[in-house]
Amino acid sequence: MLNGGTHTTSATIEWAVTETIRHPRILEKAQQELEAVVGLHRRVEESDLEKLPYLQCIVKETLRRHPPAPLLVPHMSTQACKVGGYDVPKGTTVFVNAYAIGMDQSYWENPLEFLPERFAGTAVDVRGQDFELLPFGSGRRSCPAMTMGLKTAQLAVSSLFHAFDWSAEIPRAVKDLTTDEGFCSPLWPETPLLKAVATPKLSKDAY
Ligand code: HEM
Repeated sequence: MLNGGTHTTSATIEWAVTETIRHPRILEKAQQELEAVVGLHRRVEESDLEKLPYLQCIVKETLRRHPPAPLLVPHMSTQACKVGGYDVPKGTTVFVNAYAIGMDQSYWENPLEFLPERFAGTAVDVRGQDFELLPFGSGRRSCPAMTMGLKTAQLAVSSLFHAFDWSAEIPRAVKDLTTDEGFCSPLWPETPLLKAVATPKLSKDAY
């Protein structure tokens, strides 16, 4: 519970902010949406999230490009079955590579590119019904807290983009923000996001 409930969400938030700082166009578009929907005189609330489609696309794209649990958790077949055309004998441990699925070129155009717009106007969701995108797994053993994880990440990311302008402290730092994953679970950015500078942008009555 503790591991599944903490690092997954915070890695998602850190990846979303890292990718957005690397792509100022995306930050600008997200901030325009936030200013139009929320304004600058109050802070984002959970009830705003459903009115922020572009922000939702950013979090979806983060979970596709950087799923915090890339191999889900090991599943064991309780009976012989077929998965993806393969015969799986009873008692087999199966690892589902959600990372590879999200990078599969037969489902995703330019899969390495961080492009939230790929979700605009599509019904593809992250909750386990669309098999080309499974950051929370699927079926009975999928993440029991996917709604909580998703809302927490969306609220944190939208609050950070809404209340602050973001830049890297020194020009070199933007280049240093790679999209390489460190080797651990969940997958964290190899370059920690320590060099970002946040400049407050809300009016004083919002605090
Ligand atoms: C963005 C946030 C999160 C992501 C991406 C995520 C992802 C996952 C994944 C991929 C699994 C394994 C599913 C499978 O193997 O089919 C899982 C299981 C689990 N998650 Fe999450 N999770 C997140 C947030 C949370 C939170 C906030 C909690 C608790 C408060 C939580 C608790 C659990 C638990 C207890 C399991 C094990 C369920 C079981 O074995 O039946 N997760 N999660």
